[in-house]
Amino acid sequence: MNLSSFSKRYHVRRMKKADVTNIYLLCSKNSMYYQYCPPPVTKQSILGDMEALPPNKEMDDKYYIGYYKGEELIAVMDLIMAYPDEKTAFIGFFMTAVSIQNTGIGSGIIDELCCCLKDIGFSHIRLGWVKGNPQAEHFWHKNSFVETGITYNTDHYTVIVAQRIL
Ligand SMILES: CC(C)(COP(=O)(O)OP(=O)(O)OC[C@H]1O[C@@H](n2cnc3c(N)ncnc32)[C@H](O)[C@@H]1OP(=O)(O)O)[C@@H](O)C(=O)NCCC(=O)NCCS
Repeated sequence: MNLSSFSKRYHVRRMKKADVTNIYLLCSKNSMYYQYCPPPVTKQSILGDMEALPPNKEMDDKYYIGYYKGEELIAVMDLIMAYPDEKTAFIGFFMTAVSIQNTGIGSGIIDELCCCLKDIGFSHIRLGWVKGNPQAEHFWHKNSFVETGITYNTDHYTVIVAQRIL
């Protein structure tokens, strides 16, 4: 997969261990997200997320990527191809830098990603948000994600599963 097809506006590349500090700086400023989705982020939790896979998936299917505007990391995404089925891509995590939020950049990134995934044959993008997180719910609704009716509970919160038809 050529990552330049993910965005015409931003440079996109896979994140490496050496990027953890910059990812941490981006994530730790998004305090509301971690109020709904505890525990708070640490460098160790980021390293764990970089390696985490859903059942029956391989590292080849996983794109833990950063979006750069010039030198600045402006967004991080964890994308799993062909999960939970062959025609669906799964966003496990998406976060933009607080400094650029509410300017349409997050929606632009998702729109470009949807076009790219459609072009290569995917029919759906799926994801989950923590029930009650107003920022996440508003953002995904605005970006045409619709609840599937599936929810699941963790010890600390409920996840609402939603998808967008491509
Ligand atoms: C959700 C997120 C990715 C949006 O990124 P962004 O670059 O700000 O995206 P956009 O500018 O395209 O859209 C932001 C929208 O959220 C809305 N929003 C921001 N804060 C909000 C809040 N506290 N409550 C409700 N809506 C909120 C904005 O008003 C805007 O919607 P509008 O255009 O209808 O006014 C970003 O806020 C983020 O990284 N949040 C923390 C991580 C997160 O929640 N990720 C998704 C979890 S599943």
